[in-house]
Amino acid sequence: YFTLCIMGKLQSKVKRSTSKYRAIDGVEKSFPTTTVQQYKPAHSDAVTSVTALTSDLCVSGGKDKSVVVYNWSCGVVLKRFLGHERDVTKVACLLESNRVFSASRDKSALMWTLDSNLEPSQEFNGHDLVVTGLAVSPDASQLCTGSRDNSICIWDVETGDCLQKSSISRNLVTHICWVPGEPYIIQTSEDKMIRIWDSRELQVAHTFPMKQYIQMHCSVSQDGHYCTTSSNGFGGEGCEATLWDLRQTKSKVCEYKGHLQTTAACIFLPNSMASTPLVATSSHDCTVKIWNRDNATCIASLSLDGSGPLSSLAVCNSSYLICASFNSGIHLLRMTNTRGLELQEFARF
Ligand SMILES: *[C@@H]1O[C@H](CO)[C@@H](O)[C@H](O)[C@H]1NC(C)=O
Ligand SMILES: *[C@@H]1O[C@H](CO)[C@@H](O)[C@H](O)[C@H]1NC(C)=O
Ligand SMILES: *[C@@H]1O[C@H](CO)[C@@H](O)[C@H](O)[C@H]1NC(C)=O
Repeated sequence: YFTLCIMGKLQSKVKRSTSKYRAIDGVEKSFPTTTVQQYKPAHSDAVTSVTALTSDLCVSGGKDKSVVVYNWSCGVVLKRFLGHERDVTKVACLLESNRVFSASRDKSALMWTLDSNLEPSQEFNGHDLVVTGLAVSPDASQLCTGSRDNSICIWDVETGDCLQKSSISRNLVTHICWVPGEPYIIQTSEDKMIRIWDSRELQVAHTFPMKQYIQMHCSVSQDGHYCTTSSNGFGGEGCEATLWDLRQTKSKVCEYKGHLQTTAACIFLPNSMASTPLVATSSHDCTVKIWNRDNATCIASLSLDGSGPLSSLAVCNSSYLICASFNSGIHLLRMTNTRGLELQEFARF
C-alpha cells in the first residue's frame, strides 16, 4: 500500500554544506566538501516533533497543523494528515505499526491509520488546554496523553473512551513516555518534577528529586533500565540532560553538560551504533551532541546552520538520526564510526 519513490531523488537538489562537527579533541572542523541533499520539505513551518515508524519512514508534526509520514531514505511524502485546528505539538507511534497518533494545541489527540483514507480514525477529546504529552502503550491498546491543564489521561485506542484521568496541581505536562514492557509511564513537568506513574491505577509510583529547571522531555532505554530527561535553560544555565536509573535505586546517574540553550530532546542510541552505550541530545542552541552514556563525555557535536531551535530527535536505523528544527525542516544525520565517531548532515526535508 505504499507508493514507491522515484521522484524524490530526481527532485532533490544538492547544496554545499557548511556543517561542522566537533571531534573528540574538542576542535571544531568543517567539511565544506560534504553535500547535503535537499528533499521536498515535509512541512511549511516549524517542525515540533519527529519519530520513526519503520526503517525508512518517519512521522512528524508541526506548526502547519499537519502530520506527515515521510520516506526519509528517498525524500517522498507518503501521507499528509490534516485534521488538527492548531499546531501539532507531539507525534507518537509504535515501530512497525500502521497507526500514528498526534497531539495538538487544539486540545485534542487524533489517531491516523496508514492504509485507510486521510480522515482521523479516532479522536481523543477531554483536555481543557494544549495536549503536550503523548505515548502509546507497548501493547498498542492504550494511549496516554498529558496537558497543560495539569492532567494526564489514559484512553482506550479502539473506542476513544477516557479510561482514567488524574490531575495534580501545577503539573503542567511537558512530555510523556511509556516504559517498554512495563505498565509504567514517565512524565516531565513545568513544576520541575519527574513522575513515574503506574498506568493500572493511574497513580504516581515514584518521583525523582526535583530539578532546578523545567524538564522538557523524557525517554527510556529499550531495556527499560534507564531514563533521560532534558532541561530548559539559557546561556549554559540548566540546559543539561540527566540520566536516571529506573531499577531499585531510582537515582541520578550522571548529567550531560555542554549545551548553551534548552535541551529539547535526549534519546538513547541503539547499541549497534558503537561499542559503548550512547545518548544523543538536540538543543535550542542549534546543535546535536552525542555522549558516552556512562561517563557523560561528549563524543561528537554537529551544528546545523540556520536551523533555529532543534525541537525533537529520533533514531531512523543504526546509522541515521532525524532531527526536527524550527527554521529548516527535518535534518537527516548520518553517524559513521571509522576513525572515531562522526556525525554529518546528509539531507534536509
Ligand atoms: C522508501 O524508499 C526506498 C528507496 O526508494 C524504497 O526502497 C522503499 O520501499 C520505500 N519505502 C516505502 C515504505 O515506501
Ligand atoms: C540505513 O538506511 C540507509 C538509507 O536507506 C541505508 O543505506 C543503510 O543501509 C541503513 N543502515 C542499516 C544499518 O540498516
Ligand atoms: C569514557 O569512556 C570511554 C569509553 O569507555 C573512554 O574511552 C573515555 O576515556 C572515558 N572518558 C572519561 C573522561 O572517563
